[in-house]
Amino acid sequence: MKWLITGGGGMVANDLRRALEERGEDVLTLARADLDITNAAQTLGTIGDVKPNVIVNCAAFTKVDDAEKNENLATAINGSSVEFLAQAANDVDAHLVQLSTDFVFDGAKRTPYEINDPTNPLSVYGRSKLVGEQAAQHAKRYAVVRTSWLFGISGPNFVEAIRNQIRKGTNPLRVVSDQRGRPTYTPHLANAIIRIVTCGGEGVIHYADSDECSWFDFAREIVRAHGDPVEVVPVSTAEFPRPAVRPAYSVLSTERYERLTGVRTDSWREGLAEYLSLRP
Ligand SMILES: NC(=O)c1ccc[n+]([C@@H]2O[C@H](COP(=O)([O-])OP(=O)(O)OC[C@H]3O[C@@H](n4cnc5c(N)ncnc54)[C@H](OP(=O)(O)O)[C@@H]3O)[C@@H](O)[C@H]2O)c1
Repeated sequence: MKWLITGGGGMVANDLRRALEERGEDVLTLARADLDITNAAQTLGTIGDVKPNVIVNCAAFTKVDDAEKNENLATAINGSSVEFLAQAANDVDAHLVQLSTDFVFDGAKRTPYEINDPTNPLSVYGRSKLVGEQAAQHAKRYAVVRTSWLFGISGPNFVEAIRNQIRKGTNPLRVVSDQRGRPTYTPHLANAIIRIVTCGGEGVIHYADSDECSWFDFAREIVRAHGDPVEVVPVSTAEFPRPAVRPAYSVLSTERYERLTGVRTDSWREGLAEYLSLRP
């Protein structure tokens, strides 16, 4: 099977490439400089030449707060470009995997979000990713893989942000406790994507690590694992306003993933331990 990964410079793309190479798969990773997915001709031409069996779109505008002031660009990258990828996938009969986000939900629920729950994004980023989900459906074979709260060694993430605060000597750390989700270690997500494709998974599928927690809980675990005598204090979202509104509750139900693959989701705590051993 030949895999093509777009957005090759990013956090998920790097771990997915590593996971595929470890399995001896034929994988081509294209960074933005090699393939700009907003360029229709380049996208159709490149994919037409490579003729992959699977396209995993890891390219995205992921700066959630910056997106508020860059709606056109965020929508072009996260939304409209996915139309080109769907068309290109159809041209070569490839399976298109589009990564999406818990931020397509508004967070009003208090039980995990199922794949068919109504979407209602609160931010430009969430809206742009929803446009991408809709575009992916124009591929004859597609999987929209929604995930959440990613951390991995190849990119900036919450774990590193907390460690940077610890390194700067910030004590106590103030972290929001009224947003709940499921942190996800990117190598776990990479394995999940491979399993989904191997099982021929189509439609919307959620993958996130277990269990749910708040950012405050997550930060406490990072501090504990780090072994620093730093205090973590819970604060409310209202005390820390950000340009983009985040859902208060964005816990994804992974029932469909577990039924499809027959595999339980991994633990973010184990992912955190591995992360800290690899990125000292
Ligand atoms: N990070 C999270 O917490 C999170 C949570 C849920 C879902 N997701 C989704 O997971 C996916 C992967 O996220 P990630 O964290 O790995 O993102 P990332 O590290 O920001 O990687 C995204 C990559 O896409 C590239 N890119 C941007 N515009 C492009 C374009 N026009 N053509 C080609 N490449 C382009 C970026 O290159 P430049 O650096 O040069 O811009 C970057 O290398 C995204 O779809 C994201 O929405 C992420």
